Amino acid sequence: MTAATEVQQKPIKEQGLRTLSLSSHVGFDSLPDQLVNKSVQQGFCFNILCVGETGIGKSTLMDTLFNTHFESTPSSHDLPNVTVKTNTYELQESSVRLKLTIVDSVAFGDQVDKSDSFKPIMEYIEKQFDMYLQEELKVKRSLHTYHDTRIHACLYFITPTGHSLKSLDLVTMKALDSKVNIIPVVAKADTITKGELHKFKIRIISELVSNGVQIYQFPTDDETVADLNASMNTHLPFAVVGSMDEVKVGNKMVKARQYPWGTVQVENENHCDFVRLREMLVRTNMQDLVETTHYRHYELYRRSKLQDMGFTDSDNMSMQEMYEMKRHEHVSELQKKEEETRQMFVVRVKEKEAELKDAEKELHAKFEALKKGHADEKKRIEEKKKMLEDEMGAFQRRKATAAQQALTLTKKGRK
Ligand code: GTP
Ligand code: MG
Repeated sequence: MTAATEVQQKPIKEQGLRTLSLSSHVGFDSLPDQLVNKSVQQGFCFNILCVGETGIGKSTLMDTLFNTHFESTPSSHDLPNVTVKTNTYELQESSVRLKLTIVDSVAFGDQVDKSDSFKPIMEYIEKQFDMYLQEELKVKRSLHTYHDTRIHACLYFITPTGHSLKSLDLVTMKALDSKVNIIPVVAKADTITKGELHKFKIRIISELVSNGVQIYQFPTDDETVADLNASMNTHLPFAVVGSMDEVKVGNKMVKARQYPWGTVQVENENHCDFVRLREMLVRTNMQDLVETTHYRHYELYRRSKLQDMGFTDSDNMSMQEMYEMKRHEHVSELQKKEEETRQMFVVRVKEKEAELKDAEKELHAKFEALKKGHADEKKRIEEKKKMLEDEMGAFQRRKATAAQQALTLTKKGRK
């Protein structure tokens, strides 16, 4: 902790500051109102990630939570990879504007090998952190107009098996728990009996604890909501039912799912925990979810990212000195690499030169051998030619002698 934050966190008396009373009204008691007005003007931003198997009821629950119809197309079960789908909406309630982003996992749990199913989701969460960090590190940054896409709450939809969590659930929640506020919900809770649900919830919590999975706990440090949040923490994971269908119960129209044997009312706390979820997620703890994302999850990400880049918090080194040190390290490393590359190049060139010389020698030897072979052949042919010419001369001479003898004989005969 730095000296400055230590001073900030000490009570005013311990900091040695005098408390003065004012003789009349000055007006700075309107500061909170100024803050409220500014926030209302800027609008709010909230991003929810829904992770759960295909057809588990993600879209229906989102529609029911915000009481509207968001765009959604059911996904098929035969996609080869998990992906994420993002939709952003502008909602308005009274004078408060909310930019809501719903991020949906698509084809989650549909593959035969599910070991990497969490990766695209984790990568998405980290990408949003990274984009925020990029903005923060810009020279000209505009964080107040920046559309913050970091995930504030991850609703993890648990299949209502009534048995136990699947290994996919544990692996995914474990991978995400340090990056996002996980709120587990038992989906389609109307498909499981009250007794089974009770045992299932206990089993889920004990499995999460024994596997070291951290889920989001509603904060109990603000005394206005401490009791409510503490009691809601005991209801986790919330068992939810989603439906946009309106059914007449008594003389009121209520959201419900109707079955031949009865009606499950979505907003009835005896039927399911939907109202508890809405109360906790939207009414009571939306701001805390945003703050926890920024101060815990993003902070962790930022710290490890900056440490990876070589930054450390050092009391005896300023940012400028650290930058210079890093720059120096980087430049010497670069020079070392350059020298290594140069050496390697020289060695390679020498090797190539030797190779070329060997090849030249070989060629030369081949050429000499060919030349010698050619000369020998020429000599042999010339000898043969001479022999043939001698033979031809002898033949011609023999032929002339024979002709002479024949002529002499003919003359003798006539006489
Ligand atoms: P994909 O986007 O395709 O992954 O599906 P999804 O998870 O968004 O599910 P969706 O909301 O489209 O619901 C799938 C089916 O489940 C629909 O027929 C819904 O009516 C039904 N469903 C949704 N919520 C509940 C619920 O709480 N209980 C029961 N029994 N059925 C539900
Ligand atoms: Mg859907």
